[in-house]
Amino acid sequence: MAKTTHHVGIIMNGVTGRMGTNQHLVRSILAIRDSGGVRLDGGGTIMPEPVLVGRNPTKLKALDEQYGPLKWTTDLDEVLAADSLAVYFDALSTSLRPATVRKAIAAGKHIYCEKPTALSARDAYELYTLARDAGVKHGVVQDKLWLPGLIKLKKLIDDGFFGRILSVRGEFGYWVFTGEDPSRPAQRPSWNYRKQDGGSIIFDMFCHWRYVLDNIFGSVKAVSCIAATHVPRRWDEGGKPYDATADDSAYAAFELEGGIIVQLNSSWCVRVRRDDLLVLQVDGTDGSAVAGLRDCRVQSLAGTPRPVWNPDVANPIDFREGWEPVEPDAEYDNAFKVQWELFLRHVVTGEPFRWSLLEGAKGVQLAELGVESWRRRSWIDVPELNA
Ligand SMILES: NC(=O)c1ccc[n+]([C@@H]2O[C@H](COP(=O)([O-])OP(=O)(O)OC[C@H]3O[C@@H](n4cnc5c(N)ncnc54)[C@H](O)[C@@H]3O)[C@@H](O)[C@H]2O)c1
Repeated sequence: MAKTTHHVGIIMNGVTGRMGTNQHLVRSILAIRDSGGVRLDGGGTIMPEPVLVGRNPTKLKALDEQYGPLKWTTDLDEVLAADSLAVYFDALSTSLRPATVRKAIAAGKHIYCEKPTALSARDAYELYTLARDAGVKHGVVQDKLWLPGLIKLKKLIDDGFFGRILSVRGEFGYWVFTGEDPSRPAQRPSWNYRKQDGGSIIFDMFCHWRYVLDNIFGSVKAVSCIAATHVPRRWDEGGKPYDATADDSAYAAFELEGGIIVQLNSSWCVRVRRDDLLVLQVDGTDGSAVAGLRDCRVQSLAGTPRPVWNPDVANPIDFREGWEPVEPDAEYDNAFKVQWELFLRHVVTGEPFRWSLLEGAKGVQLAELGVESWRRRSWIDVPELNA
């Protein structure tokens, strides 16, 4: 007997953008389609059926020509009214998200969207309650949880490798070009650097830090943050100079349930001399680990060198030597695709999916409290958000 194929119509909004095209359309939805769909445990398959939505027909047509045939439209209301399309996906610039997601919830669509879900904790929490009360399924992108480096780190924790974890220190960032030199254009959209358009590294990155910390190390209980706009003038996609009004660097400390102290620097104004664009060092009583996006290295207590402070001679220890790589124990797929597959299963089979609009709201809450801490120059406790 032929196995059932569940066709899931997905409205994809914001797919002409950087994240929408690369991670969500090409690496996730089209990759799932190319591999024959998401296979279900009891037999059967989920086949995502995307319809792209955007303002600019030329850009949508270009996606169709490059990756198609793909369905596309510039009429969001029309696709929201179509019963055959069960899911609304949103990777628009952040400031546009609350209004569009609200509309999609009202149209009865299941919601999957990028982070931050909104630019205020109030709006983000409201999206959660609206989706909850409407009874639609909902999820927020929390891709870092499926990075190979972080999967390895989580496994070390689950295996008890660290003993008692004391602290986590992380460095995220790289040099984002100002765009002044046309031969080296900025690697990120200009709205990221304009507060009035939803830019802010605190909002961008604290949404990630919240779910990374909550899920891997322990719930975030308090935050202290100082941020800056180190580079006040940048050049936009059209080569025009503009004032950078958003914070482009944030230096933060977090206190977790269980007492772990976390320090995380996020910056688009640093040059990289570390293993990766994101590096997390975890120190525990029995061992330490350093994880990047893909790799993870460990040093156990037994393998810990015994340095002695003496600046008069070159240090005899090569500190980078004494770390062992953690070997992969699985094949790691694209992180966005893995989460898409879980969300599609959630929609079709009702399989639990933890990474909801409530979890998304917690990220926005932490960002907002980070800004408040910076403004007040003080530590701020993080209150619980009720389900
Ligand atoms: N999960 C992650 O790691 C990650 C990484 C980067 C960005 N993001 C998030 O993804 C979202 C998109 O970021 P991006 O870097 O792709 O931005 P982008 O500027 O490249 O894309 C924005 C999209 O929104 C559309 N858009 C902008 N203004 C519009 C308007 N007025 N009406 C209709 N459509 C409009 C653009 O056409 C484009 O499709 C943001 O919310 C960002 O925070 C997530």
